[in-house]
Amino acid sequence: MKSGLDRRKFLELGAAACGMLAVAGAFPQKAGAQAPAQPVALDACLAMSPLAMAESSAIVDRDWKYLGEVAASIKDPAVRQKVRAILDNPAPTLADRLADPKTRTSVHQELEAKGFLKGQTVAGMLPPVADPSKAAQPFKSAPGSGYTSHHAFPGGLVVHTAGNMRNTLGIHDGYVKNYGLTLDRDTTVVSQMLHDLHKPWVFVWAEDGASRKEQSLAGTGEHHVLSVAESIVRGLPPQMVVAQACAHNHPGDAKDEADVVGWITAAAILAGVDPVKAGLLGPDGKTLPVPRRMEGFVCHLGDHDWVLTVPAGKWTTAALGQLAKERYGIADADSKAFNQFRNYVFAHGTMMGLYAAYSASGKDALADAVAAIVKPV
Ligand SMILES: [Fe+2]
Ligand SMILES: [Fe+2]
Repeated sequence: MKSGLDRRKFLELGAAACGMLAVAGAFPQKAGAQAPAQPVALDACLAMSPLAMAESSAIVDRDWKYLGEVAASIKDPAVRQKVRAILDNPAPTLADRLADPKTRTSVHQELEAKGFLKGQTVAGMLPPVADPSKAAQPFKSAPGSGYTSHHAFPGGLVVHTAGNMRNTLGIHDGYVKNYGLTLDRDTTVVSQMLHDLHKPWVFVWAEDGASRKEQSLAGTGEHHVLSVAESIVRGLPPQMVVAQACAHNHPGDAKDEADVVGWITAAAILAGVDPVKAGLLGPDGKTLPVPRRMEGFVCHLGDHDWVLTVPAGKWTTAALGQLAKERYGIADADSKAFNQFRNYVFAHGTMMGLYAAYSASGKDALADAVAAIVKPV
């Protein structure tokens, strides 16, 4: 059954519904960028790899180019080169020294003694590593979160990081303008660009079309501590690493700061450095370097799209499960078929783009938007 709303109307509607977000820089200026030129057959998307899904998506392509442009605007040439290298190959190089069983055991002991582990064994302390010099998957095909959360689709990490970057630069520029501050733009950009750099490693795609389940490390998702550790190992300047570590919390009071200190401490143990000597913590190892810089707060504020994207993703996935039953002959929302279907649909329409149509105009508008991406059967 087809509703009265055609694709063009949906696109106009999407553009209107997204207007507010576009102003904030979190979303495509034109919703038309979200849908492929032609809807694909269901069979085609059921057989597609995550990378092929991401590479066929106009929005992922646009956001990947945007991230490249922002990376190219980093002033410090050595830092610029390191950031580009991570985008091109987010390899878990931190795992290299941990291949030595003695080192790995002592790192495990140290993490355990500080209460940073949640039952991980020595062997299972890190996500699987085939080769520490090679990324588990390209940055471009990785999801932006675990499978039940925000941006859980191929290319989701690119869309999440780009959205965060636009928001972060908006906040950065706002502070500079409002108060005439001299914030370090390189630190702002690098901290946000790298904040989830190890999601390609942590959230590898599985055979069933979902992604690997994340472990907890130092009280947060392991991707966060591993990303900070990778930045340390790759030699990013300490003030940038500290700002990156603030993505999941800010150092505004003692309790919140203790979280960030814990993540830096765990990351330093993994990286094999003394966090105080490395300039990552204050002299007693219990605070960030003082006085605390402002860029970490900017990074933290810029990593807040989850407030909307998590529920939008959840509600849209549930509605998509219903649609899959009604119009695509996929009865089981826990099946590989549904995962492949939703991965392709979200890679092209994004959870946010589809939720904009759904929330503003209802289920028929969502059905039309999805039909513009995958042909109903
Ligand atoms: Fe994160
Ligand atoms: Fe994030």
